[in-house]
Amino acid sequence: NDGLKDAFEGNFTIGAALNHKQVKELNSQEEKILFQHFNSITAENLLKWSNMHPEPNTYRFEAADQFVALGEQMDASIIGHTLVWHQQVPDWVFEDEQGKEVGKEALLERMKDHIVNVAGRYKGRVHGWDVVNEAFFDNGEYRTSKWYEIAGKDFIKQAFQIANEVDPGMELYYNDYNMWKPEKRDAAIELAKEMRAEGIRVDGIGMQGHYGLESPSLEQIENSILAIAEAGFQVMFTEVDIDVLPNPVNRHGADIDATFDFEEKYNPYKTGLPEEVQQKLAERYKELFELFLKHEDKISRVTFWGLTDQDSWLNNWPMKGRTAYPLVFDKDGLPKENVIKKIK
Ligand code: XIL
Repeated sequence: NDGLKDAFEGNFTIGAALNHKQVKELNSQEEKILFQHFNSITAENLLKWSNMHPEPNTYRFEAADQFVALGEQMDASIIGHTLVWHQQVPDWVFEDEQGKEVGKEALLERMKDHIVNVAGRYKGRVHGWDVVNEAFFDNGEYRTSKWYEIAGKDFIKQAFQIANEVDPGMELYYNDYNMWKPEKRDAAIELAKEMRAEGIRVDGIGMQGHYGLESPSLEQIENSILAIAEAGFQVMFTEVDIDVLPNPVNRHGADIDATFDFEEKYNPYKTGLPEEVQQKLAERYKELFELFLKHEDKISRVTFWGLTDQDSWLNNWPMKGRTAYPLVFDKDGLPKENVIKKIK
């Protein structure tokens, strides 16, 4: 009983995002740390539209079924990620048979079909869903995705409405990155309040938490915790990792130049993380978890975006071939003891 989940028992759950390979078969070290430290799991990719519903009327449930079964075996709080997003969604969703853009009504009908089939299948077993992911730009304007261009913000409202009808017992979340930016966070809160005023249930707002060593500041993060809680919504940190590498891209959204020159300076620690950088990582995690603990009455869950550094998406984002060290378990799945000690 000396896992991270035990250290924060009664405060918030501790989650990890799992990939398809892990859900199919965990190696013995992964299995050990997963069961020892975590009491929540999120699907990193396998519940996304393009994996679940690649063709019209074709659903692939196998991996998702395994994911949910694993969560039950762990007795974990199982998180669905995500029903409606502008990425990892096939083109056909937005096109009619002639390849022309589909109309609003037809698009919302497809969305409904998707939510009914996917969320409906795991009714009563999934604790909560990221119903809509990343619908705002950093400046607080609605993201001009296909969803928004065709259906306006009704796609968001209807997604929550339908998810509620499918399973009134599961929690419903809005999730986004850079939620420490006041414009973006306020826009999400406004929308959630608007929905609530219209009788549409929204339980929580997820701050993804893809952070750097220095930025955002604790104060910026804290302000968003307070603003979300003040508005009456649960706060969750849903995709935490700390990128110790310099990053040429100011988080998502910025287009990555296809001719991007993969410079040495963006991938400096190919053969291992220097001790002093790992120490900085430990300090950063320590101050973050102190902040989370300070607001444990407002925060229901803290999820890491990956189990070990081996499988972190930051090894491939924003460009392939990085060697990333953002999590608290290293490439062999061994605990970074100095980091974990500081967190606890
Ligand atoms: C990422 C996965 O980690 C990658 O494996 C995949 O190639 C792209 O998506 N915000 C989200 C997550 O909400 O779904 C993203 O996950 C990371 C950023």
